[in-house]
Amino acid sequence: MDFSEDFDFENRILSTSYSAEDSDTDTSLRPKNLDEYIGQDKAKENLKVYMDAAKFRGESLDHVLLYGPPGLGKTTLSNIVASEMGVNIRVTSGPAIEKQGDLAALLTNLSEGDVLFIDEIHRLSRSVEEILYPAMEDFALDIIIGKGPSARSIRIDLPKFTLIGATTRAGQLTTPLRDRFGVLLKLELYTPEQLATIVTRSANILGIGINENGAYEIASRSRGTPRIANRLLKRVRDFAQVSGKDIIDEEIASYALSKLEIDELGLDNTDRRMLETIIKFYDGGPVGLETLAATIGEEAVTIEDVYEPYLMQIGFLSRTPRGRCVTRLAYEHLGIPMSRKNSSAQIDIFEK
Ligand code: ADE
Repeated sequence: MDFSEDFDFENRILSTSYSAEDSDTDTSLRPKNLDEYIGQDKAKENLKVYMDAAKFRGESLDHVLLYGPPGLGKTTLSNIVASEMGVNIRVTSGPAIEKQGDLAALLTNLSEGDVLFIDEIHRLSRSVEEILYPAMEDFALDIIIGKGPSARSIRIDLPKFTLIGATTRAGQLTTPLRDRFGVLLKLELYTPEQLATIVTRSANILGIGINENGAYEIASRSRGTPRIANRLLKRVRDFAQVSGKDIIDEEIASYALSKLEIDELGLDNTDRRMLETIIKFYDGGPVGLETLAATIGEEAVTIEDVYEPYLMQIGFLSRTPRGRCVTRLAYEHLGIPMSRKNSSAQIDIFEK
């Protein structure tokens, strides 16, 4: 069975990918400094210490690796770092740097202290990565001139810059690259309380009336992700306006989100179908990631990066050595009775 037609990932309102719709208001919604940035307290506290210390010493900030699920504000945080350090930022991504020369051009155009932000850094090619090593370590670019026996290498000094790498998959980074980052910061999914604060802040910026319960309703259905929360806020505003409401309250938020087929926990059709597939075709699991991916017509990396983090956070899915398993909580939420075999299998998995 192939569900690929139902899995319109890019058009999913709960997609964590950045879309054109996010861009018009996103810049105004983005916090401009660390004080405005809500949540990620651990990462923020540590980052503040490293930035203050670097400023005190008059040095550039050490290279930073930001990792965690998509949509949590890695780009935003990098912009904040640059602005708090009083330097410029150049933004690029792993797949956009095709050749060594592309990276060389970026590096030689930086000024002292500048931030180079590379999104999806795990997608850099090996040959590009190779010139990044001396650039990060010695602030130098090794260029080979000529070919064959007469080839020689010359070294060009680079300004002392800060590389901020962002990735959803820290495990896919090569060890030499990972080891060259002095600061590793993990971004976590946001709590509904933090997201409610973000939704209220965004509503204020956009001039949308919202009360506390309305904000909480949107927040608790946003899968721990500010990008989704801000997108849902805009959709709920449409429903409120058409219904002649000036203020988004719990009632209109709940009505709008049910029309968008997003349930009380933030699951959409895609999530539910994935869980139901594991239940119906694999008896609740365990099922291997690749098998699951083939069954639902989705890429394994998308399942791992986009669907699983939230389903695991709310305790609906578990990763076991033998594969993915749907938990009792998910059965209850979906209203599907658990077979006897299944409930004893779960006891096996969780208690052994
Ligand atoms: N908008 C998106 N992410 C945010 C955050 N972490 N804090 C405040 N506003 C945000």
